[in-house]
Amino acid sequence: MIAKIEELLRRVEDFRPKAEAELEEFRIKLLGKKGELTALMDEFRTVAPEMKRELGQKINTLKTAALDRINTLKQEFATAGSAQGGTDDLTRPGTNDYPGSRHPISIVRNEMVEIFARLGYTVADGPEIEDDWHVFSALNFPEDHPARDMQDTFFIEKNPDILLRTHTSSIQVRVMETQKPPIRVICPGRVFRNEAISSRSHCIFHQVEGLYIDRNVSFADLKQSLLYFAKEMFGEDSKIRLRPSFFPFTEPSAEMDVSCNLCGGKGCNVCKGTGWLEILGCGMVDPNVLEACGIDSTRYTGFAFGMGIERIAMLKFGVRDIRLFFENDVRFLRQFSPAL
Ligand code: DAH
Repeated sequence: MIAKIEELLRRVEDFRPKAEAELEEFRIKLLGKKGELTALMDEFRTVAPEMKRELGQKINTLKTAALDRINTLKQEFATAGSAQGGTDDLTRPGTNDYPGSRHPISIVRNEMVEIFARLGYTVADGPEIEDDWHVFSALNFPEDHPARDMQDTFFIEKNPDILLRTHTSSIQVRVMETQKPPIRVICPGRVFRNEAISSRSHCIFHQVEGLYIDRNVSFADLKQSLLYFAKEMFGEDSKIRLRPSFFPFTEPSAEMDVSCNLCGGKGCNVCKGTGWLEILGCGMVDPNVLEACGIDSTRYTGFAFGMGIERIAMLKFGVRDIRLFFENDVRFLRQFSPAL
C-alpha cells in the first residue's frame, strides 16, 4: 500500500497536462467515485490498527498534494485562457519543474563538516592532481610502498612525480606547510585509485581527512572527538571501538569501528554478525611527518583521521551497492530529496 501511495504521489507531482480536459480526466481517475485514491481509502478501512496511523498520514499527504496540484493547474489554465485574448500575463506562475536535490554524498559530506565545525574545525582544500611529496613522501611512505605502484595509483606517463591523489591525507601536508599550530582542519575531497579491476569497486570515491595539532594533544582527545562524531552521525547510543593498526603517517595507528546502527549491535548481515562496522583509520601524527612539514615535533603533537564518505553514506542510508552513487539514476537520487 505504501508503494502505491508513493507511486500516486509521484504521478501527481509529475503530471503536466497540455489541455484542461486532460486535467479533468486526471481528477476523475484519481478522486472520482471509482478513482484510485478513493479505492485506496476503501482499502485503508481494512488495514491492521497498528498500521493505521502511518498509512493514514501518508494518504492525507497524498490527498492534499493531489488537490493542491489540481487547483494550481486549474488556475494556470484559467490565467492562460484570459491571457490569450490580450497581452501575455507576466504574473502567471511558472511551470512546476522538478527542482532537483542534493546528492547523498554531498548530504553526508556537509553533515560531517557541520559536526566537526562544532568542535572548532574549519574546512581545508587541496588539488586532486598532486605530486609524490604531498601524497607519499611527506607522509613517511617508504620508497617501495605498494601504494606507489602503478597498479594502485594513477600516474601521469610523462612525469612520474605527478599523480592523482589516492587519499585526502595530502591536504594535511599542505595545511601543515602553510599554517602554524594550533591547527584544526577537516578536508573533504575526491580521491582516485586504480581499483577498477572488480565490477564492485570504483576508481573514484570521496574521503574526509581530519587533522588536529597543538601542544599536548593526546590519544584521549582523538578518542573523545571520534566518539562525539559517531554519536552525532549515527545516533546517541553509538559506541566506538579502536583496534591497533598501521599507517606510515601515524604512530600509534588505529582503525575505528562503530556499533552497527542497523541491528543495534546484536549482529546482522551488514555487520557480518559482529555488531561492529569499520569506518575509519586514525592515529597520532608521526613525528617524521610533523618535521617533514616544518612543525617542531618536540613542541607539538597531533592526531589525524581519514574516512570514506561513500562508506558512511551506505551505512547511514542503508545503501547496499556503492555504484548507485555514481550512476545518477533519478529514481535513486530523488529518495534523498526533502520534497518527497
Ligand atoms: N589515508 C588513509 C587511507 O586512505 C586513511 C587514514 C588513516 C587517514 C589514518 C589518516 C589516518 O589521517 O590517521 O586509507
